[in-house]
Amino acid sequence: MKRALPFAVLISGRGSNMLALARAALEGRIAGRVVAVISDLPTAIGLVEARRLGLIAEVVDAGPGTDRPALGQRLTEILERHGAELVVLAGFMRILDAGFVRCWQGRLLNIHPSLLPAHRGLHTHRRVLAAGDPQHGCTVHFVTEELDAGPAIIQGRFAVGPGDTEESLSARVQQLEHIIYPRAVGWFAAGRLGCKDGAAMLDGRPLTTPVIEDA
Ligand code: GRF
Repeated sequence: MKRALPFAVLISGRGSNMLALARAALEGRIAGRVVAVISDLPTAIGLVEARRLGLIAEVVDAGPGTDRPALGQRLTEILERHGAELVVLAGFMRILDAGFVRCWQGRLLNIHPSLLPAHRGLHTHRRVLAAGDPQHGCTVHFVTEELDAGPAIIQGRFAVGPGDTEESLSARVQQLEHIIYPRAVGWFAAGRLGCKDGAAMLDGRPLTTPVIEDA
């Protein structure tokens, strides 16, 4: 049997994506195992949830005076100590420095609550409503030095309804996130997904457009 890929999940808050990933790994839907859950905030609820599942959950020192390169070095120290071979950002609310991104290039994933390249950055649900977008969703992508701009792998997509609010959009996005993130990490763990020359590669072919999961 293929070895389980050791991966780490970085969080700052509730950690629902981290839980979806951890459960998928425990249930064998991802050929991998979560070797560490790391938060920059000691109060992140996700840390408690992770420990409840029996996972190792650590806080990275990101206190006052920590600049981005220092945070990146501390994270890499923890990740290497736990033997992580893939780093999965799941609601980690810090911008990572270029050195960290280069060090983990091709082994660093993020999920963003919009159909990238639309609505990089924060408050995506509000901005979708303000723009009158007909569709909304979420994107899993490889992380590059430019924020929310790395090669997209898979998107979860749905039609925005007349009754949708920021809250309903957030709930609908999260539901899809919990489907597409385990799928992407599963592809990576199975050796099917990689990043080459700035493009996401699935089954040996560049993804010119992301895989779409319609709700
Ligand atoms: C998700 O909506 C994700 O798109 C964004 O942060 C949120 C994290 O939610 N990057 P959770 O902590 O996984 O519940």
